[in-house]
Formats: sequence, C-alpha cells, structure tokens
Amino acid sequence: MAVGVQGEAGVGLGFGEVAGRVGKIRTAVESVIEGKSEAVRLALIVMLAEGHLLIEDVPGVGKTMLAKTLARAVDGTVRRVQFTPDLLPSDITGVSVYHQERREFEFVPGPVFANLLVGDEINRASPKTQSALLECMEERQVTVDGTTYPLERPFMVIATQNPVEMEGTYPLPEAQRDRFTARISMGYPSPSAELDMLDTHSRTSPLDSLAPAATVTEVRGLIETVRGVHTAPAVKQYAVDMVNATRNHPELRLGASPRATLQLVRAARARAALEEREYVLPDDLQALAVPVLAHRLLTTAEAQVERRRPEQIVSELVARLPVRG
Ligand SMILES: Nc1ncnc2c1ncn2[C@@H]1O[C@H](COP(=O)(O)OP(=O)(O)OP(=O)(O)O)[C@@H](O)[C@H]1O
Ligand SMILES: [Mg+2]
Repeated sequence: MAVGVQGEAGVGLGFGEVAGRVGKIRTAVESVIEGKSEAVRLALIVMLAEGHLLIEDVPGVGKTMLAKTLARAVDGTVRRVQFTPDLLPSDITGVSVYHQERREFEFVPGPVFANLLVGDEINRASPKTQSALLECMEERQVTVDGTTYPLERPFMVIATQNPVEMEGTYPLPEAQRDRFTARISMGYPSPSAELDMLDTHSRTSPLDSLAPAATVTEVRGLIETVRGVHTAPAVKQYAVDMVNATRNHPELRLGASPRATLQLVRAARARAALEEREYVLPDDLQALAVPVLAHRLLTTAEAQVERRRPEQIVSELVARLPVRG
C-alpha cells in the first residue's frame, strides 16, 4: 500500500483508506437520502476537495435534508441560515456588541463559524449579504470591525437555490457562482425510492437517529490525503485545455475562470481517491466537467434562443476534445 500522508491532526491516512472511510460516510448519508447516490457522491467529492456546493432544484426534493445529513454524518457543527431579503451581512458573519460592565466590545460569532453552513435559498438575500458569505467562502476567514477571525476546518457551504424564476430573488452573479466548486441538482426520486422514503420517513425522520460515521478530525485527515493525489503534467494540461475550450466557444459569452481549473483538478483528486487511485486519470476530469464547469458559464443570446444549456455545451465539448494524460 502507498505511503500515507500525515494528516493535520496527526492522523496518518493511507490512500487505500480513503475509499473505505468515505464509504462509511456515504452509507450513513444514503440511509437517510433515498435513491440519490450520484448527488451524495458529488457532495462528498466537494467536501474532500475543500470546496462548496450549490444545490439547485425545485422545492421539496431533499436539498436541505442532504446538507443536514452530511453534516450529521461527519459529526460536524452545522448552522442553517434561511436567506431572506432583509438578512444582513452581520447575520452571517457575526457582530461586535458592547459589553457594558467590561466596557469593551465582544465578538458574537455568526452562523458562518461552523463546519457546515447550509444557506437555504441563497438567491433570496440581497447582493450585499450574498457577498458577505462569498467572501468567507473564498478566504475562510471573517473580518468584523477590523479584526480577522479564522474559520474552522473543514468549512463547507452548501447553498440551495430554486431554479424557477421567482419574484423577489436576486440571481447569483457569475462571480459568486464561481465560488462554488460544483453545482448539482437532486432530481425527483425514482418511484421505488419514493416508496422507500414513505416507509422510512413517514413517522420520524431517520436523520434524528443517524449516528455519525466520522469525526471532523478524520475528515481533515482525508482532505490532507486527497491533496497528495498525484496529477501528471499531461492530465493538468488536459484540465487547462478543457477550461480553455469554454473560453473560445462560439456559444458561450463567458467561459470558466482559472479558479474553475483549480477546483476541477482538486475535485478530480478527490474522485481518484474515492476510487482508490493515487493518481488522477483523464476520466476523472471528464466525469466532473459538467458539475464543476457548467454553472459558471453564460451562453450567448443566439444559443439562448436555441435553448442550448451550458451542461449540453460542456459535455459536447468534452467529447470532442483530444484526451491527454
Ligand atoms: N430522495 C429523498 N430521500 C429521502 N427523503 C426525501 C427525498 N427527497 C425528499 N425527501 C423528503 O422530503 C422532505 C422535504 O425535503 P427538503 O426540506 O430537504 O426539501 P428542499 O429541497 O430543501 O425543499 P425547499 O426548496 O422547499 O427548501 C423531507 O422531509 C425529506 O426527508
Ligand atoms: Mg430547503
């Protein structure tokens, strides 16, 4: 077996151990979320890639449930914020309040100080509040009244939003969508999964009795190991080619950013580790291209008239691009 990488908290994890440990977390999550193994897998890949996840789907398909279940499964602290138009930036980051007796300001941390922050209906908050959150996502720290506070690790934002154009929503601008490593949609469960859900969820929620399958220290160790997954120069070149192809595409008016390239490779490392590989294959990049790239792209007016979706454009582009690696 491969040489292990020393985890942050001294947990030495070998590459061979990643799949098994993540498998336990996955089993725990899937005992609550019925029939959504692809969504669960992607959520775990994003967590191991130290990214943030955007879940876009219609109401009632288990978006919030997935986020809460994942947090419970890794025994992390979880906070949930329902985004509304009157939510203030300080409702997310925290505030300094004046302490009368001690005659000094005291920082009251906001919900961002958690391992998992569930931002529900993120597109309902004002752009100012959205950007407060997105700053924390990028820098993994919060600055309030001139003092900077680091956030805990792992720190993952799982934001949900409704794709249906609704009144009173502020769609996330491109720069903000770019902060999310991947976007997934849940989709309706299959009839048999929905039937199972009725059995398991009708009395009490299985989430209430879910036992954690890993500790946050273990998750830090897993993240550390994933960082050590090898990416050959040809594979890196393939990632760059892929991202570049979105920038020169006639149907796209905005292509993917260098941040996207970085996140694509990180996510590919996590996918490789889940498959018990110590190295990234072009296959990893191909499989992740749509969830990692599509939400960052803007189609041209002509492409919109033809109802071309970025997802479609990305998968066609990947199919055409010569493989390297
Ligand atoms: N695939 C699924 N497996 C298990 N339970 C599910 C699934 N899909 C939906 N549910 C159940 O449906 C209910 C609603 O789910 P949830 O609140 O997570 O929806 P949501 O997608 O966040 O909706 P909204 O957009 O309205 O916030 C929950 O009780 C959840 O258990
Ligand atoms: Mg919800």
